[in-house]
This record gives sequence, structure tokens and C-alpha cells, in this order.
Amino acid sequence: MSHHAELDWSEGLPASTRFGDVYFSRASGLAETRHVFLDNNRLPERFAALAAGDTFTIAETGFGTGLNFLAAWQCFAAHAAPDARLAFVSVEKYPLAPADLERALTLWPELAEFAAPLLAQYDWLSPGWHRFVFDGGRVTLTLAVGDALTMYPQLDLRSSRGVDAWFLDGFAPSKNPEMWQQALFDEMARLAAPGASFATFTSAGAVRRGLTAAGFAVRKVAGYGHKREMSVGELAETPPLAGWQAPWYAPPAPPTVRTALVIGGGLAGASTAHSLAIRGWQVTLLERHGALAQEASGNPQGVLYTKLSAHFTPLTQLVLAGYGYSLRTLAATLPQGEAWQRCGVLQLAQDADTAAKQAKLAETGLPAELLRMVDATEASTLAGVTLNEGGLWFGQGGWVNPPTLVNALASHPNIRVLTHTGVLKLERHGEEWVAIGEQGELASAAVAVLAGAADTRAFDATADLPLKRIRGQVSVTPATEASRELKAVLCGEGYVSPARDGTHCFGASFKFDSDDLSANVEEHAENLAMLAELAPALHDALGGEALDAAALAGRAAFRCTSPDYLPIVGPVARSDALAAAYRELGNDAKSQPTAPCPYEPGLYVNAAHGSRGLITAPLSGEILAAQLNGEVAPFGAALMDAVHPNRFAVRRLMRRQG
Ligand SMILES: Cc1cc2nc3c(=O)[nH]c(=O)nc-3n(C[C@H](O)[C@H](O)[C@H](O)COP(=O)(O)OP(=O)(O)OC[C@H]3O[C@@H](n4cnc5c(N)ncnc54)[C@H](O)[C@@H]3O)c2cc1C
Ligand SMILES: C[S@@+](CC[C@H](N)C(=O)[O-])C[C@H]1O[C@@H](n2cnc3c(N)ncnc32)[C@H](O)[C@@H]1O
Repeated sequence: MSHHAELDWSEGLPASTRFGDVYFSRASGLAETRHVFLDNNRLPERFAALAAGDTFTIAETGFGTGLNFLAAWQCFAAHAAPDARLAFVSVEKYPLAPADLERALTLWPELAEFAAPLLAQYDWLSPGWHRFVFDGGRVTLTLAVGDALTMYPQLDLRSSRGVDAWFLDGFAPSKNPEMWQQALFDEMARLAAPGASFATFTSAGAVRRGLTAAGFAVRKVAGYGHKREMSVGELAETPPLAGWQAPWYAPPAPPTVRTALVIGGGLAGASTAHSLAIRGWQVTLLERHGALAQEASGNPQGVLYTKLSAHFTPLTQLVLAGYGYSLRTLAATLPQGEAWQRCGVLQLAQDADTAAKQAKLAETGLPAELLRMVDATEASTLAGVTLNEGGLWFGQGGWVNPPTLVNALASHPNIRVLTHTGVLKLERHGEEWVAIGEQGELASAAVAVLAGAADTRAFDATADLPLKRIRGQVSVTPATEASRELKAVLCGEGYVSPARDGTHCFGASFKFDSDDLSANVEEHAENLAMLAELAPALHDALGGEALDAAALAGRAAFRCTSPDYLPIVGPVARSDALAAAYRELGNDAKSQPTAPCPYEPGLYVNAAHGSRGLITAPLSGEILAAQLNGEVAPFGAALMDAVHPNRFAVRRLMRRQG
């Protein structure tokens, strides 16, 4: 069953059939929101008092129609200084379908200016974490799809001071008793910044007692409209830290000087530079080639697609979060056409094992608009060419020209791009990193982010990272009249995209022990064989047996992978000092050391995006920006730990035990 909301519009207002309650007041939802959540959290004055560069964090239970979010954003826009930022976090168990959200928000013409960008980015959402960026980066929305009681314990605020204001919404406690639990109130206190406030429309005694028990000083004040009373309060006591947490995953304190060097001008580097620049950082992006996106990120077409596991492994969770984020980034950054196309992606079931896995995935309850099973007939209609198998249809996916995306991300007034600028080493001079090249000193900044794919290992501090290179080659052939009928990307063992600029791009080979980067005939022949297997009719349309591998164009590059196939994104520790600090793990992997992690000051890495950089790299910029700018992470703590660079060193230490 879908996890999306089922609405009853019979009264002209959205009501939930599941909960038998309305989303907002019949009298005036917007006025009630302003009274209950904005004024009673004193947001106008607190927004006005924000210092330059400061981020105010609001967290909400029940995103619903987004009315509270939009009203808070409008209030922020009216009162906060231009260089202050709003980080809004919300959780929603049953997200609205896009058409329902649009219908609900047309009720508030006053908010149209804010609703339009939300609607432009909002799509069918998978369970898990979704990051939205608005207003040139000034406002972020982190929307966790799932139960408040399971999602808030995962929320990662380790880099931030915590939640400044809580919007405790949700249907009435009498209609939704499962949500209004002590465990939720305790989470609110755990995640709160010192002096945090909360407001809720209800004055139910059990809620007030629960919030008091969690450590809030609770007061009853006048409610809105016919509601006589509501509850507000502030955190009176900061709860003691619960339990032991692995110190090697605790991020270092965010730096105070907002300047960064980003080394490597591919998808990872450009995404990092972009996420920092939109937060007001001054970034220097250094690339050794004469232009950006000349290595792995240089293919004419890449696919927004990857295999998912029905078990929702960390990799699948990351990919689901990244897929939506990349699509939103593309939609907000580039018009469709030569840069990218949301044409849909067919993952063909080329063997029984794949077909069984696909069937399992389709049964997990992910929305059909995200993925659904199709048979060979429907697949052929969707693709525009005859196919022998059905498979999974990813209706939101498509292809991207990665260099256009990289250049668009790097094009920001706060980013200075230096090409022909190879960095040979980094030196720490006082409070800064200095990049040194053949020409001598190239640039300096408080922070350095290594985004040079496998060549990140050329730097002393990251020489130990287990980065592996896997050569891949794509082939390019002219489109024919018949091949232009291809309307969707086809994936299986390899992939082929609809024509762009008069050619089709297909591939890609995998070679584990090659250091050579010239395109070769053997791998073109492999790509052709893969294409003939994937879509024989398309292969014929492109020339069939007459297609000559020696006549194909194409290019080769290295993918960069890690042993667990997850990217490596986060702060870099001093490896000798880390081994010394956590030596006891070698004797007892269950020991709980508490020494702070010996990080290299201001040094970060963003690499190992494997075969799916289009999906993971844009979001990786948000991971680093959250850590560096002191904000809420774009997804839960366990996933943040799963991409942390220290995971390999710590696993090595633990294996040495006994
Ligand atoms: C054949 C092939 C097909 C692929 N197909 C897809 C696909 O369909 N979908 C998908 O999502 N992904 C695909 N990928 C993967 C995707 O391209 C990568 O994950 C992504 O491009 C990685 O980006 P990156 O920035 O980490 O690395 P790169 O793009 O390799 O960028 C690293 C950059 O750092 C620079 N650099 C390194 N060291 C230094 C230094 N010391 N000083 C200055 N500059 C330095 C390099 O010159 C380079 O420009 C494919 C990859 C290959 C090879
Ligand atoms: C009254 S509506 C919220 C209105 C919303 N704040 C707005 O601005 O439109 C309550 C929302 O809480 C959601 N909800 C209810 N129980 C939940 C739970 N346990 N976890 C997360 N969301 C929940 C409902 O699906 C619904 O969207």
C-alpha cells in the first residue's frame, strides 16, 4: 500500500481519511499557523535578531501541506538579515501526492511566491530523507518521510547547535494518540538548542505533562479562534547526553572562517563548491585540466539511475535521497534539452535473478510514480523501440550531460575557478591550508576539500583511504532515423540513452586492472555486444552487424570506488593519531573509547562516487556544507556515519583484535 496521504476534499479543504481530521482550521489556517507556531515561538523578533551568517533551525512534526513551512519562510524573508539562513526540518508519515499539495496550497494566494518553488521541486517521495534548497540556498528543507518516532531519533544535528524552535503539529492527540508519546517529547528535548522554544495548538494535559517531564517549562496561552488554550514553552533543562556515541564519527566543530579550497573539478568538487558558495562561503575550485569535468565527469551522457535493494540498505537509502536531490538540483539549475532529459529509465530484467529482485522491490510500497514493474509490451511502448523483456520503469529518471551540470554548479559569484592548476601538496600555514603546485603557492583558505577521485590518495593525509580505480569506456555512434524513436534510457548490463546532439552514448565497460585512458576497439566491441543483448531492435536501427567497433567514437575514464561502494565524504583524521587514540579497539572491538577524534584541522574529502556520481555527488556537497556551516545533516546519523572517511581505519583497528 502506498504511504501517501489519502485526502477527502468534499468540504473544499483537505481532510485526512486515515485520521478523520482536517489539515488546517476551516476559519483560517494561515492565521492559525501564524498565531500558534510563529508568534508563540516569537519568530519575528528572533529572526530579526539573527547575526550575519547564523542559521536558525526549526523542526516540525507533520509536514502535511507545508503551510507551516511556507508561513515560517515568509516570516523569515520579512524579518531576517539577508545573510542569515533558515534550516527547516519536518517529518511526515504520509506525504501528500503532488497534485494534492498543489490543490491545498492554492488556498493561500498570499504564500504563492513561496509555494511556487516548493511545488516546482516537490514530487512523489520515497520513505527516508529528502533535502530541498530554496531562495538561492538561504532556506533548506530537510523532509524525513516516516514516523516522527523513528525519524527524529536519527536526525543528525551533531554539527549544529540544535533545534531553536519546535512546531509540535500533527492531528489532534485524540485522533492520533500514537504520535503524542513521551518518547517524542524526550526527542524534542534531546535535539533542542539551549533555550529552545516549542509551540503546539493543543492544551491537552497529557501533552503538557509529557513536555514538562522532558524538561520544557510549559505554559498555557490563548489559542486561535474557537480554541481557548494552546501550549508553549522553553527548554528549561538540557537533558544529559544519552549513552555512548562513537567519537570517531563526531564531526569537528565548524570553522569560523568561511573560505575553502576545493581540489578537483568533477561532479564531487563542483557540488561541494556549490553547496558552500550558496551559504556565503568564498570558494576556490582548483582543477589540473584546462576545463572542468574532463575525467569521469566528462562523458556526453550519464544516467540518473542505479540498482536498489529491497532491504533498504544504507546504499539504497543514500541513493533514494540522492536521486531526488539530483533531480531537484537539475530542475532548479538547467532547462531540459541538451543538458538533461527527464525521459524515464527502464531497467530491463535480463535474467530471472534480476526479475525476482525487481519484483521484490516493486512490493516494498515505493510509489509507482517512482518505480513500477512493466511487461515487455509496455516497456516497448515507453521506450519507443521493441524490447524483448519488461522490467522496472523509473518514470522520474533520465540522462544528464555531466559537464554541463558541473559547469552550472561551479558558476556562482562566490566560486573562483582555477584551471590548469594541479595541486601537488597541501601545507598548513597557521590557520590556513596552502595549495602548492609546480608554480609554487596557488591559493589558500581555512578549509581544504579533496575531491580528486582516486588521486585524492596523492595527498599525505588521505594516502591510506581505500580508493580504487575502475576504468570504463563509453561508445558514441550517430543516431539514425529509426534510432531517434528511442524515448527512454535503457539499462541492464549496460545502458543506452536517447539521441543527444545527433548521437547516442552507450556503455560502459568495467576494467579493474588498467591504468590506460585511451579508448580502444575491444571495449567498443564489448559495448556493442552489450547493446545487441540489451535492445536488439535498437542495435539493428543503429546499423546492426554493419556497426564497426573501429569506427565508433567514445572516451574512457576512471570510476573511483570504495570497498563498501559507499562514497567517502567528511572530515579527515590524522591516521597515526587516530590509531593511537582508539588502540583499545584492537583488543576489544566493543570497548567504548571517549577520546575526541584527532582530526586534521579543516581538511575534508569527497570521493568514491563509483558508477553513480550523478546520484550521490550533488547531495555529497550538502553533507559537507552541513558539517562546515554548522547545520542539520541532509540525512540520518547512521547514514552520515556510513559515508564517514574514518570507517575504514576504525574497521581495520577492530579487525586486529584478539
Ligand atoms: C565510463 C563511465 C560511465 C559512467 N556512467 C555513469 C552514469 O551513467 N551515471 C552516473 O551517475 N555515474 C556514472 N559514472 C560515474 C560518474 O561519472 C562518477 O561517479 C563521477 O563523475 C565522479 O565525480 P568525481 O568528481 O568524484 O570524479 P572526477 O570527475 O574524476 O573528477 C575528479 C577531478 O579532480 C581533478 N584532480 C584530481 N587530482 C587533482 C589535483 N591534485 N589537482 C587538481 N585537480 C585534480 C581531476 O582532474 C578531475 O577533474 C560513470 C563513470 C565512467 C568512468
Ligand atoms: C495537521 S497535519 C499537519 C499540518 C502541517 N503542519 C501543515 O502545515 O500543513 C498533521 C500531519 O501529521 C502527519 N502525521 C501524523 N502522525 C504522524 C507521525 N506519527 N509521524 C509523522 N507524521 C505524522 C499527518 O500525516 C499529517 O500530514
